[in-house]
Amino acid sequence: MLRRQFLLNAAALAGAPFVSKASPFAFAQSADARIEVLVNEPLGTISPNIYGHFTENLSGVVYDGIWVGEDSKVPNVRGIRRELVEEMRKIKPAVVRFPGGCFADSYDWRDGVGPADKRPRRTNFWNGGERPDAPAAHAYDPNRFGTSEFVDFCRLIGAQPYLAANVRSLPAEGFYRWVEYCNSPAGSTTLADERAAAGDKDPFQVRYWGVGNESWGCGGNFTAQQYAVEYRRFTAWVPNYPGVGPLSFVASGPNDDNWEWTRGFLEEIVRKGPNEVRGIYGLALHYYAWNLSRGKTSDWFKGKGEAVKFDDVDWYELLRQGDVMESLITGHWEVMHEFDREHHIKLVVDEWGPWYKPGSELTPADQLEQLPTLRDAVFSGLTLDTFNRHPEKVGMACCAQLINCLNSLYLAHENQFSVTPVGHVFELYAAHQGGESLRTEFSAPEIHYDRDGQPASFWGLRGSASLHDKRLVLTAVNPSAHQGLEAQIVVRGAGVSSGQARILSSTDIHAHNTFEDAHALVPKPAEVKVGSAGVSFRFPAASVTQLTLALA
Ligand code: AHR
Repeated sequence: MLRRQFLLNAAALAGAPFVSKASPFAFAQSADARIEVLVNEPLGTISPNIYGHFTENLSGVVYDGIWVGEDSKVPNVRGIRRELVEEMRKIKPAVVRFPGGCFADSYDWRDGVGPADKRPRRTNFWNGGERPDAPAAHAYDPNRFGTSEFVDFCRLIGAQPYLAANVRSLPAEGFYRWVEYCNSPAGSTTLADERAAAGDKDPFQVRYWGVGNESWGCGGNFTAQQYAVEYRRFTAWVPNYPGVGPLSFVASGPNDDNWEWTRGFLEEIVRKGPNEVRGIYGLALHYYAWNLSRGKTSDWFKGKGEAVKFDDVDWYELLRQGDVMESLITGHWEVMHEFDREHHIKLVVDEWGPWYKPGSELTPADQLEQLPTLRDAVFSGLTLDTFNRHPEKVGMACCAQLINCLNSLYLAHENQFSVTPVGHVFELYAAHQGGESLRTEFSAPEIHYDRDGQPASFWGLRGSASLHDKRLVLTAVNPSAHQGLEAQIVVRGAGVSSGQARILSSTDIHAHNTFEDAHALVPKPAEVKVGSAGVSFRFPAASVTQLTLALA
């Protein structure tokens, strides 16, 4: 069944012939599309944690992106880039994951604590990919940004830390000692004294702990069954400390549609008894949209597309790849249900975003850095809408990665800084956090395009809605590269007294921000018509919109 679902998606990606669907709604005469929000059909609370971020010690993410140093000419707060802190406060970042990614399974947390001038320099996991002109700190980790600096960063931006433990190359003892360093009360342990001596008397109270990363690959090359045994060993009897509650462990989960990993892992977990699932807070799912080859190859290097130079077909192909997220969430959830009937375990999508070929970096020496455009903003909007529509399944998500990397919200180099279109989407969507997700039906004509001689199609308008007392937040993307849509919005179960909108869009689908032109693409206010006949709104082509409706 699941395999069939996946094959159906794969067929769609391969350009299956288009079959027209009759619209379930009759449009008002002037409208092209209709949105129906069902106030009395709540789906669950949208966890603020799905608006999370990922900061790996990878090339320019930490050194240059986040950490500039106390003595830097770049304005900073205790060494942390001030402009980043100020921008992040606007998006209410709930949680930040650190130190990796693949880096995490090569990291000894002990290297990053204690007096800064005594910390060792180590070869960074990503060393092999660094260019000779990259800063030394990218290839050889100075460990200047360690646990306390990361927690300081989290506190400055108002986020919770989510630390990823090393399962591949440290024993379980290393893990529970890190927990002790972070969480044991002042004066209680030798590690608490070490923490205090480094300036942090009070515990960090870290609740979220990843147990390895991509354990099927860079995190140890385990089978799902081997990893499940490691997971049990690492998490058995990790002490709890006052003020932090039971720790929330996130198991390393599947890549993409690897249902076998999810099944194999959980099969082994419940072999010890059905209650074993209760000790798992989340199962990590990683999904990158990278293959823009239009079905020609599945080669990781050859299949990638360009970040900024693309045509209309590449535009739609990337969005179709992003749309696969929904079937991954529902597919893995179904497998999880086989072992965890009450769904104690949530999905934690702690790496997501598009991944392009190198070549678009604003800072050429930054490995894996790419320049996000309007296409990535639309991709990010539709991904966040997907998470919002599954609040009972997705407990946390982290966009990969925060700064100077893949789907970054920010780009920075020395004293230059810019908010990318993805950053603006996070600012627009922050309004959903903590709201009650509502069932919302979107009806719009499908988009048709020619995919190398084969007809292909994509949906015409989609989004999500959340209720916050008398305020309704509705976000939507119009994925059409060229066609705006006049939509009628019906709120079932409540009246609407007024509305406001902000739109991120451009007539150029390649629009992006640079250090020189940092405000080329920013959200702009737009008119919402609220009348006796209902609400109407125009969604421009290639747009991400946030609508706020005051309910009567
Ligand atoms: O985000 C870059 C890398 O992608 C991460 O380190 C790894 O987990 C994933 O494969």
